[in-house]
Amino acid sequence: MNQAHKTFAIISHPDAGKTTLTEQILAISGAIKTAGSIKAKKTARHATSDWMEMEKQRGISITTSVMQFIYQSTVFNLLDTPGHADFSEDTYRTLTAVDSAIMVIDAAKGVEPRTKKLFEICCQRKIPVITFINKIDRNAQEPLTLLDDIEKQLGIKAIPVNWPIGSGQTLKGIIHKEHGSTIVSNHNLADYDDIEMEFELAHTQTESLDEEYQLGQSTPVFFGSALRQLGMEDLLQYMVTNAPAPTSAPTEHRDIQASETKFTGFVFKIQANMNPKHRDRLAFLRICSGTFRQGMQVLQVRTGKKIALNKALLFLADSRSLISSADAGDIIGIYNHGGIQIGDSFTEGEVASFIGIPSFAPELFKRIQIKNPLKAKHLQKGLKQLSEEGAIQIFKPTLSNTIIIGAIGMLQFDVVAHRLHHEYQVDCIYEASPIQSVRWIDSESQSSIDQFMTQYASYVAFDSFDRLVYLMPNHAHLRLVKEKYPDLYFHQTRE
Ligand code: G4P
Repeated sequence: MNQAHKTFAIISHPDAGKTTLTEQILAISGAIKTAGSIKAKKTARHATSDWMEMEKQRGISITTSVMQFIYQSTVFNLLDTPGHADFSEDTYRTLTAVDSAIMVIDAAKGVEPRTKKLFEICCQRKIPVITFINKIDRNAQEPLTLLDDIEKQLGIKAIPVNWPIGSGQTLKGIIHKEHGSTIVSNHNLADYDDIEMEFELAHTQTESLDEEYQLGQSTPVFFGSALRQLGMEDLLQYMVTNAPAPTSAPTEHRDIQASETKFTGFVFKIQANMNPKHRDRLAFLRICSGTFRQGMQVLQVRTGKKIALNKALLFLADSRSLISSADAGDIIGIYNHGGIQIGDSFTEGEVASFIGIPSFAPELFKRIQIKNPLKAKHLQKGLKQLSEEGAIQIFKPTLSNTIIIGAIGMLQFDVVAHRLHHEYQVDCIYEASPIQSVRWIDSESQSSIDQFMTQYASYVAFDSFDRLVYLMPNHAHLRLVKEKYPDLYFHQTRE
């Protein structure tokens, strides 16, 4: 690997400016000719209803969910975190595939709920975060108030690297510590001594900023405007110098170093039917070590099968193309017709599975019924594929023939019904389900598991990977079964 590779995501609350920032970054790097194309697609989506929006989104996300660009000799992979309003597992899993994140905050609004949730995930995963406080060309909160808000709400030290002179109508420019100053209009910085002093004050304690950022102890803060391309070069420059390159990734046996020569990687996302004419499904694989070469034979660790990685795709800003090679940190797309699951690891022979790509217990449940019983097979096939994609989770109770669907957001049910209809020609209806949550069961004691399965048969199901699940009616019931079966584990996530 000659060039540094840096893989990152942009996280934000809706409307803070993630799309605009993405576009401008791609425009500055020369990856797209003019800003506007992604935006135009996004705007077009607004005109349609919610689930249609998601449909369309799947259609366009092939060009936008992973974008590679080069800036100052550094190869950047920018991963889009899905834009649905519901917090989804997809978002979480996308964050398993990045080495750093940019958090966009609206300068008028400060930290918002979704920013907070996404930031917490970055913290859990020890992903360093750079903050971009956007829209300073509009009336904004005071810089010190915004920094304070970040520190209080997110519990991280917020250290400014640049500083705005005014905002909205009174915006005069941005001062940067290393780059001297940028002036929007013809103003003399001497007129802003007091502002500079304020910056100096906030900018103290910065000697170890770069190190603290990489350790996740501080967030470097950039003020700017994505729309006006203000403060963005400062941000990108900082990324080139300080954003972490891939280091290592944990497997159940050992950490695999990015510098190792043998190819390894894991699948964090599966997207289906992007081309409606072909039933193709694309698995997005993050390379953890070594170099990918077109046609290479790899071991799919879960199944023990050797497969040839033919026709892998690399995603550029506005296109996808076949590639001959790719390095650690890069994301490649592999075609598959089923058989690849989220979380699958691929190696050049080592039996090592990457860990930390979980499924969460869903929060919403419905029983699914088909209108035409002759279509039962179609339904099962459709649900299996949709669950492999991570769109929903399915549970088959041991005592009945019903299928229960679990989701994290309400919209997912509509999307599933819509896709079953269009892609699998199955019409379904939903019925209420009394389940509140699920827990994955395991234990060292098989006899306890057997006993539990007999005593609580009506609360037991298998998920689509045939793992044993407890269908939880409420928390009191969970407490009860935990007391009765102290040697069973009830996991909230499934690896
Ligand atoms: P998102 O992806 O985070 O949801 O946000 P997006 O980039 O779509 O931006 C949300 C709105 O904020 C857009 O306005 C966008 O133009 C605006 N915006 C983004 N960055 C800036 C900025 O630096 N300054 C100002 N003044 N506005 C900014 P919109 O009215 O929803 O869309 P549009 O009609 O402008 O395209």
